[in-house]
Amino acid sequence: MTAGSAPSNPAVLPPVIAIDGPSASGKGAVASRVAAALGFHYLDSGAIYRAAALAVARAALDPARSGQEALADLVGRMPLSFSAGRVILDAEDVTDSIRSEECGRQASLVAALPLVRLALLARQRAFRQPPGLVADGRDMASVVFPDARLKVFLTASAEVRAERRYKQLMDKGIHANIAQLLQDIRHRDERDSSRATAPLQKAAGAYELDTSSLTIDHAVAWVLERYERQQSS
Ligand code: DC
Repeated sequence: MTAGSAPSNPAVLPPVIAIDGPSASGKGAVASRVAAALGFHYLDSGAIYRAAALAVARAALDPARSGQEALADLVGRMPLSFSAGRVILDAEDVTDSIRSEECGRQASLVAALPLVRLALLARQRAFRQPPGLVADGRDMASVVFPDARLKVFLTASAEVRAERRYKQLMDKGIHANIAQLLQDIRHRDERDSSRATAPLQKAAGAYELDTSSLTIDHAVAWVLERYERQQSS
């Protein structure tokens, strides 16, 4: 199967709800809660790209200078697993360390490389297990699960997203500068949206939801209602 091609017999595959959107749009919180409500599996594809960035840094490779083949080979083989909500890389719990702003920046650089994306495709598709999957990222609806039963594109203004990120970091006791966070978010949006391969964009057939003035509860209820409607249509 190649990137973007639909599985040969989607009728027998577990259903997927794809939730894409920019950094800090709330997609992680919404997707994980939708998954819990439905008893579905959950894929945080950003965590895979973040772990890939960490693996690249630890191997002393540089996303901007090392050859794409070497980077893709490394991330294709990285010993990564998810267990009880924790992210384990090379037997080390990296759940918290991959959440840093720096790791997010590096992940965005690594994620712009087409061979790296290809090397991570099978790993993401392996999450599609019964009874179903809720997957969040940038290209869940367009490339990884083009046959998703429901496709949602979550947005929020850059200012609201910077504020959310600021609160998240402060809650963890991490000092942050809101103006810097806003600038980082804008840069990341620009890079993730303008890359040639699997750019961040609303996929054909996706419903758009602006969460700027919505609570997580509202957004979760909205997705669940759409999914139920889809099921009964
Ligand atoms: O969702 P996140 O902020 O944790 O993702 C970190 C970076 O990984 C993001 O800047 C872009 C990249 N990414 C991607 O290119 N494709 C995905 N499906 C998920 C994340």
